[in-house]
Amino acid sequence: MTVSKYIRRSLLWTIALLVSGLMVTAVSVAEERGSDEAESRPYRPGDYVIEDGKVDPNTYQGYLVYTRACMACHGPDGLGSSFAPSLIKMAEIRGWADFAGTIAAGRDVLPGQVMPSFADDPYVMGNIPNIYSYMLARGEGGLGRGRPQVIESMQEQVEESDGASTE
Ligand code: HEC
Repeated sequence: MTVSKYIRRSLLWTIALLVSGLMVTAVSVAEERGSDEAESRPYRPGDYVIEDGKVDPNTYQGYLVYTRACMACHGPDGLGSSFAPSLIKMAEIRGWADFAGTIAAGRDVLPGQVMPSFADDPYVMGNIPNIYSYMLARGEGGLGRGRPQVIESMQEQVEESDGASTE
């Protein structure tokens, strides 16, 4: 019991540190997103590339994790359901810190509807940046519904990003 509490707390701390570090760079990310420069620096949460309806490996990974862990409540392709809200606009408006924080801590604001905490789920926790990228791609990026394909020239990064995100 104490151990799982400890794990939960350290995960929340990891998120908090991640978030505070990323706030500093949020402005430059917003400016660079979608430009050619974006390819020459490391991936950051919310980054995505869309070419002819195909996406980069991180955004694709975000689609997979969303579909496995979130779709049952939040509906296919992030669109929302009668039980839980759409995440597409929410991700855009509230930003990374709010998005990541809600997934780590859960949320119980609407009566009778509970968003569970994923703090004990390393698969989801490690992939929050990718889910965020997928949501932004669906919103401002105009990515269509359904399972996207990975951009051919970025295929070789798929294994790499899978490895990083399951740590
Ligand atoms: C068991 C059902 C369920 C699952 C599974 C679930 N959610 Fe939720 N989620 C909810 C409900 C219900 C709310 C609204 C809670 C409230 O506002 O009181 C919510 C709210 C949220 C919010 C805040 C939305 C807003 O507009 O404030 C985010 C972000 C979110 N969920 C992300 C996720 C992600 C990402 C996953 C998958 C890793 C996920 N959720 C899985 C039920 C779920």
